[in-house]
Amino acid sequence: MSTDLPTDTQAVRQHYEAHITDVEALLQAIDKALDAQGAPATAQSLAALDQFHAGGLPMTEELARRAAPQPGDQVLDAGSGLGGPSRYLAAQWQAQVTGVDLSAAYVAVAQRLADRTGLASRVRYIEASITALPFPDAHFDLVWTQHVVMNVADRAALYREFRRVLKPGGRLAFFDPAAADGQPELHLPVPWASTAGSSHLLTLVQTREALAGAGFADLGIDDMTETVGTMLARQLTAGAPPAGPHLSMILGPAMAVTVRNFARNLQEGRVRLLMGVAEAR
Ligand SMILES: C[S@@+](CC[C@H](N)C(=O)[O-])C[C@H]1O[C@@H](n2cnc3c(N)ncnc32)[C@H](O)[C@@H]1O
Repeated sequence: MSTDLPTDTQAVRQHYEAHITDVEALLQAIDKALDAQGAPATAQSLAALDQFHAGGLPMTEELARRAAPQPGDQVLDAGSGLGGPSRYLAAQWQAQVTGVDLSAAYVAVAQRLADRTGLASRVRYIEASITALPFPDAHFDLVWTQHVVMNVADRAALYREFRRVLKPGGRLAFFDPAAADGQPELHLPVPWASTAGSSHLLTLVQTREALAGAGFADLGIDDMTETVGTMLARQLTAGAPPAGPHLSMILGPAMAVTVRNFARNLQEGRVRLLMGVAEAR
């Protein structure tokens, strides 16, 4: 897939994979850490590794309550990362989940964790760009996405692609960084971007417009900035590592700086966090 991606998408992949030099060694290190735990890996025990968004597992649980997938629903996790949310949806909501991610390394880790959690029959991971999904029209009951859309320059086209693969009446559930009104500059780097040119935040109004233009009815969008910003600031003040040791292993030493900048951007009102559900009309 590497050669046919647009340059800006290749740059996004490089951003996330910058610290991964040897995928096999990474998988072995993860196996070793899980073996050392002694207990079977679960969504809870893996959360510091595999929930790669602000607020961690509690925000995944909150979004799932809003999206309320039915057992057996076909769910697309767009930008599935290391797969924490997809495995949570499979384990707790009995959904059948397909995760799509740009990074072959993340796909490999997600698949290994699916094997280790006994969920491989209910989740699968595919290396592809969510801007050109390798699925037929009207395939999914739910498109789920957390902290990915801010990496895509053409949000309107992305939402049209989500709408295309959803069955009529299907839902889009999202939890994403957004621009504050006036679009103030960010403190950089942040976890999703090293430069302003690769961060594509929309305001709440712009998000609503892009959703409506793509054929979605807004079922409710909430601003989660204060809730999550307070959680994150409390963790950092308490001296807690900004991410679990395994996520730091994947994202490298810059992780701490990017998470602190994220917290500062939230505190100063430069970034908002939006959670919502929309229905395919
Ligand atoms: C911050 S992580 C979030 C991962 C996951 N959604 C979670 O919450 O745990 C962003 C992920 O989006 C993926 N990504 C960014 N742009 C993408 C694209 N155009 N297509 C597929 N994946 C993309 C990255 O590779 C990365 O794994």
